[in-house]
This record gives sequence, structure tokens and C-alpha cells, in this order.
Amino acid sequence: MVTGGAGFIGSNLVVRLVGEGAVVRVVDAMLPLLGGNPFNLAPVKDDIELRQVDLRDLSAAQSAVEGMEYIFNLAGNVSHLDSMQEPLTDLTINVNAQVNTLEACRAKNRDAMIVYTSTRQLYGVPQYLPVDERHPVSPIDVNGINKLAAEHYHTLYARVYDMKTCSLRLTNTYGPRQLIRHARQGFIGWFVNRALLGEKIQLFGGGGQKRDFTFVDDAVEAMLVAATNPVCRGEVYNLNGERLSLEEVARILLALCPKASVEKVPFPPEKKKIDIGDYFGSAGKFIEATGWGAHVTVADGLAKMVEYYRANQSHYLEKP
Ligand SMILES: NC(=O)c1ccc[n+]([C@@H]2O[C@H](COP(=O)([O-])OP(=O)(O)OC[C@H]3O[C@@H](n4cnc5c(N)ncnc54)[C@H](O)[C@@H]3O)[C@@H](O)[C@H]2O)c1
Repeated sequence: MVTGGAGFIGSNLVVRLVGEGAVVRVVDAMLPLLGGNPFNLAPVKDDIELRQVDLRDLSAAQSAVEGMEYIFNLAGNVSHLDSMQEPLTDLTINVNAQVNTLEACRAKNRDAMIVYTSTRQLYGVPQYLPVDERHPVSPIDVNGINKLAAEHYHTLYARVYDMKTCSLRLTNTYGPRQLIRHARQGFIGWFVNRALLGEKIQLFGGGGQKRDFTFVDDAVEAMLVAATNPVCRGEVYNLNGERLSLEEVARILLALCPKASVEKVPFPPEKKKIDIGDYFGSAGKFIEATGWGAHVTVADGLAKMVEYYRANQSHYLEKP
């Protein structure tokens, strides 16, 4: 089962799972501002069971988890900005739905292996780089607090109830099927939107901020590794990827979409207050445990992304 399986990362995982011969149940509430998009699942629509249900409903969660051997728990709200404007909505999506899923498994399916997509956002402003799992957690926005709580629930259910869970702290993940129609889910999707349409890519504060970037296929591989390697049970791991500044990312896009341009602008105050500055992580713990590695360069990943949207643009610029 993939929760949030019609969204960006979830749908890429579903396509990979179907390709591997898995029997897949997709659970997604198709919440309006988030990345769920029926077109994301078009290549596999006849090969999956799709349930449009909201995991904030415990009985829906209980029926969804029954019979599932592996549960990839990706349902979530990604927007940091929205979490500040509607903290209670973020709380219900990022915490209530997660506790429901765990409680549903405790009652109906204790043997399932659950992989949860946590986030590097819970570290807050880094005290040192690269950030490893020993770095203190100190979220600077509501989204980070709620994702941290949900991660702790997963670890607690492993420790107290002997359930099989693993949390992966994803960093900036990008690729085909990502939401690009608005700017509320982070900058990469929006940069790609501006580049495709030949518009200005705005760099807040100059664009010197460094981040690390995981192409979605590498993130999907990490989830499969975490699900199937027993050493990962009860653990929490960082993922990582190539390190670049936001300006370097924009310049790669300009080379792919020459009609676009770059503009350096001051940071909007509401965004500056929840910006973590430079961040890049160490995935050493996960690499040592499993041998996983992020292999796709940002140049190659963005080229694949632009190619995908050039072929399928109409499905991503309007609300599905
Ligand atoms: N994209 C990134 O860079 C990134 C970074 C760190 C962590 N993550 C985590 O990865 C996961 C997937 O992110 P994404 O980028 O694919 O987001 P997305 O918005 O594309 O997908 C999330 C999906 O979850 C679904 N959903 C939300 N609440 C639900 C509920 N209560 N019941 C059922 N479905 C629900 C939405 O409808 C949406 O389709 C999230 O948990 C996110 O926090 C993503």
C-alpha cells in the first residue's frame, strides 16, 4: 500500500512497484492544494487498486491497511507556508492521519513493514554541515513540528509494540510528477514552472543558499531498500543528494529552457522567517547500513524532469 500514492513521490513509487510485479493498493484523499493528480498514475491505472479515502478517518484507515505486507506511508502536507497559515490543518494531515494509520495497523495488521517519509525540515537551522542524525532537532515551522511528531510515533510503535517501522528523512526531492502549478510546495517545482513557460525565476536573497537534491528515482530506491532490509526496522535515516546553490539549480534550468531568465530579489519576510539557510545532509548511516546511494546528478535529473513536463505539460499547469 502506498498512502499519498497519487502525489509526486508516491506515484513514482507506485509505478516502480507495479514494474517490479507488486500488487499495489493506492490510498489518497486527493486534497485540493496538494500534489495528488490522477494523471500521475495513468501508466498503471489498470494495474492498481485505487482508494480515494482520507486517512484522518480511522475506519477508512483500518479497512485500507488490512492484508498489506508493506505500507509506504507518504500521505502528508509538504507546504511549509500553508502549515504556518493553517496549523490545525497541517496537524490533522501530518499527525492525526499518521496516528490513525499506525493505530489501524496495531489493530488489524501488526506484521506490516511501514516506511514513513519524514523530512530534513525537523532539524531547523543547521548548527553544522553536513547534518547527520545526531544533529539536534529544532523545527522552525509548524510543518517541521508535525512531521517530527509523526516520525516519533513511528519509532515509538516500533519500540513499544514491536511493529516494523522505518523513517527516512527526505531532503529536497524533485522529478517527474511533481506539483508545478503553484509555488506553495517549495521552490523546485516552481522554478521548473517558470523555466518551462519562459518566465523569470526569482532567487530570494540572491540564491546563494546551498541545498542537497535527491532525484525521485533515488528516493524511491531508498524506500524499497528500507522496506526490505530488516536492519532498517525501528531506525531513522537521512537521505541526501548532490549539493548545489539555488542559483546553480536555476542556471541548469536556464540552459534547458533558454527563454527563461533569473532575477535576484529580497527575501519575502514570511518566507525568510521559516527559511533554514544552507542545508545539506549526511546519509552515511543509511549508506553504511544498506549500501544505498543517490546517483542521479541534478543536471541529469532536471533534464529528465523538463522532458517529462514538455510532453505532459497540460496535465500539470491546471488544477486536476
Ligand atoms: N517533496 C519533497 O521534497 C519532500 C521532502 C521531505 C519529505 N517529503 C514527504 O514525502 C511525502 C510525499 O511528498 P510529495 O512531495 O509526494 O507530496 P504530494 O503533495 O505530491 O503528495 C502527498 C499526497 O498525500 C495525499 N494526502 C495528504 N493527506 C492525506 C490524507 N489524510 N489521507 C490520504 N491522502 C492524503 C495528498 O492528497 C497527496 O496526493 C510527504 O509525507 C512529505 O512530507 C517530501
